[in-house]
Amino acid sequence: MMKEKTRIAVLVSGGGTNLQALIDAQNSGIIHSGEISLVISNNQNAYALTRARNAGIKALYISKKESKAQEAFETAIIEALEENDIDLIVLAGFMSILSERFTSRYDHRILNIHPSLIPSFCGQGYYGLKVHEAALEKGVKVTGATVHFVNEIPDGGEIIAQKAVEVEDGDTPEILQRRVMEQAEWIILPQAVERIADQISNAN
Ligand code: GAR
Repeated sequence: MMKEKTRIAVLVSGGGTNLQALIDAQNSGIIHSGEISLVISNNQNAYALTRARNAGIKALYISKKESKAQEAFETAIIEALEENDIDLIVLAGFMSILSERFTSRYDHRILNIHPSLIPSFCGQGYYGLKVHEAALEKGVKVTGATVHFVNEIPDGGEIIAQKAVEVEDGDTPEILQRRVMEQAEWIILPQAVERIADQISNAN
């Protein structure tokens, strides 16, 4: 009998280049044990939503109006995940921290891509360009990206994959961000998603 594919949801907030890397990896067969079944954005204007719809993937905007609405926000996400029978959640540039109530419900079922070599430049306050600004400020000569499981500690869960990237003279945060994406994030995220999707589909 054919194994059932792991149903994947990708949570996004912005441009969605990592989402695009996942879509491309699905089209090229790098991801074949899972299928991207749902995209959720907490930002209505995220270009990631357009990328999802262009690829024919169901895409939802779920708003988080104020910080005290965290519980309602997460409840709405959980409902969408359940309605769509999601097995694996991928945070791909998702700029909202999830509570322990959420992360413990999906133990070892949430992956995140972070644009540094954890434990450097990670945790609360380190996201997007800020990570690369901090790396340049420190003067490190090597940085990179990390895929890890998500638990209640921001960027603190078990590491799945890492890839190093050289810092070059004259780098700006934007130039470094782009190099880390091209040489690390867009490669290791699809590989890690395939590996975990395969493990889940074998266990089901
Ligand atoms: C990526 O560099 C991702 O690693 C980072 O935000 C960017 C999103 O770009 N994520 C974090 O900083 C999470 N703490 P994208 O929307 O084009 O994928």
